[in-house]
Amino acid sequence: MEFVLHPIGIIHSPFTEKEQTPIQASRSQAIGLVELYPEFAEGLKDIEDLSHIHLLYIFHESSGYKLHVKPFLDDREHGIFATRYPYRPNPIGISTVRLVSRQGNALIIEGVDVLDGTPLLDIKPYVPDFDLRTDVRTGWYETRSKE
Ligand SMILES: C[S@@+](CC[C@H](N)C(=O)[O-])C[C@H]1O[C@@H](n2cnc3c(N)ncnc32)[C@H](O)[C@@H]1O
Repeated sequence: MEFVLHPIGIIHSPFTEKEQTPIQASRSQAIGLVELYPEFAEGLKDIEDLSHIHLLYIFHESSGYKLHVKPFLDDREHGIFATRYPYRPNPIGISTVRLVSRQGNALIIEGVDVLDGTPLLDIKPYVPDFDLRTDVRTGWYETRSKE
């Protein structure tokens, strides 16, 4: 099977170098701007009532993938699917960010952890009843070697 995905917009951020980009949205206070292409703007109806949204996007500056990787927070190797490492067979990223405001087809967001110009695939609401789990095990992250 093959799927052709087209971006619905672009994520603008202050980051032009991977090394300078925060490693997770929860560790970032950087402000970014989601520019939704005008043909999708109607789909933003009621989004301004949300405090947090999930952004799904393509790691467009990642080429190729590895099945074993050392994630940013550990010196040990783990399977790619046990990590958030950007070099993935399908280079899809997800960031949960705070929605600061909406200005037409633009969303101001806080907590951006992607490169400027990252192609946006989708936006979904963050809903604790759907998304928040409290009884969790996080595997290698609990014994990670870095902060
Ligand atoms: C560890 S990933 C986590 C991203 C997302 N929160 C996730 O969990 O899918 C974040 C890192 O990916 C890299 N990165 C960010 N945007 C990228 C892009 N558009 N293309 C390639 N690499 C990117 C940067 O090195 C950044 O620090």
